[in-house]
Amino acid sequence: GVGKRDEEIREALKEDILLLNLESEAEMKRVAIIAEELGVEARISIRVNPNVDPQTHPYISTGLHENKFGVSIDTAKRMYIYAKKSPHLNPIGVHFHIGSQLTELSPISEACEIVADLVRSLKAIDIDIKFFDIGGGLGVVYDNEVTIKTSEYARVISKATKDLDVTILMEPGRYMMANSGIFLTRVLYEKQNGDKRFVIVDGAMNDLLRPSLYGAYHKIEAVQKDGEKTPADVVGPVCESGDFLGKDVELPLLDNNDILIVHSAGAYGFTMSSNYNTRGKVAEVAILDGKDYLIRQRESFEDQIRLEEACDTSWL
Ligand SMILES: Cc1ncc(COP(=O)(O)O)c(C=O)c1O
Repeated sequence: GVGKRDEEIREALKEDILLLNLESEAEMKRVAIIAEELGVEARISIRVNPNVDPQTHPYISTGLHENKFGVSIDTAKRMYIYAKKSPHLNPIGVHFHIGSQLTELSPISEACEIVADLVRSLKAIDIDIKFFDIGGGLGVVYDNEVTIKTSEYARVISKATKDLDVTILMEPGRYMMANSGIFLTRVLYEKQNGDKRFVIVDGAMNDLLRPSLYGAYHKIEAVQKDGEKTPADVVGPVCESGDFLGKDVELPLLDNNDILIVHSAGAYGFTMSSNYNTRGKVAEVAILDGKDYLIRQRESFEDQIRLEEACDTSWL
């Protein structure tokens, strides 16, 4: 991310990780100081912001100059030259990540070509870039999106980098996780406000934020429940009208304790969850070879207040 704290930089250097992706000149100077303190040489890569519109939701677009991420090509060149001269920095990589949930190939191809050109100009001045980190971004199917074929993705990347002698690194988090996980929630009540039908469930925006944050779509289905389907908003108990998991979802009439499946919750689900409204975080269950394993316990009220401390009121 754009704001690495000293202790995070120190830990990364002590752990001797492959490289640190730097997001600003100020951060680079901080890394050099910490590397000097530790008596090590930091292997670094610079996150370039190629100013390419990734054609995704503005909150998950990261490759335009108006976004906080990375540095311009000109700044990157200056940083590489500085790093090359520094005894505490070893510039061995380049990085870009233009956005998440990308479903168009052309912005990726454009960004690859821009960054590959940068690598060529760096190699020409003896800065030997060995790692070409293309970030994540590969979109997945939540609804009926037409996504990028991985073979096409590989083709544009290898086309841009074929003469560069670099190792490709990638970080496709959503692609690996989103459709590997579901979120299960229980129905509490049905409710009708005028013409509007609501299904109130025990899951909420604190558990799965994407619908509230981005208006994101997640397919929702009732488990083993038949009957005529009509549209309903699936909403949680949190004190916000923005607390919904789905809008106008076609569902049969539901009863207390019925279970709904909220699909595609494996990425940006639990990791984005919070304790808003003093709601404990959910339990996590992994399924392996048809067997289920509890891999994270449901959070209790005691877990939530464990770190709280009383004020000293003796002066009152
Ligand atoms: C630098 C970087 N790499 C990878 C990812 C993962 O992206 P995705 O989950 O879309 O693959 C992100 C997400 O924000 C990111 O910022």
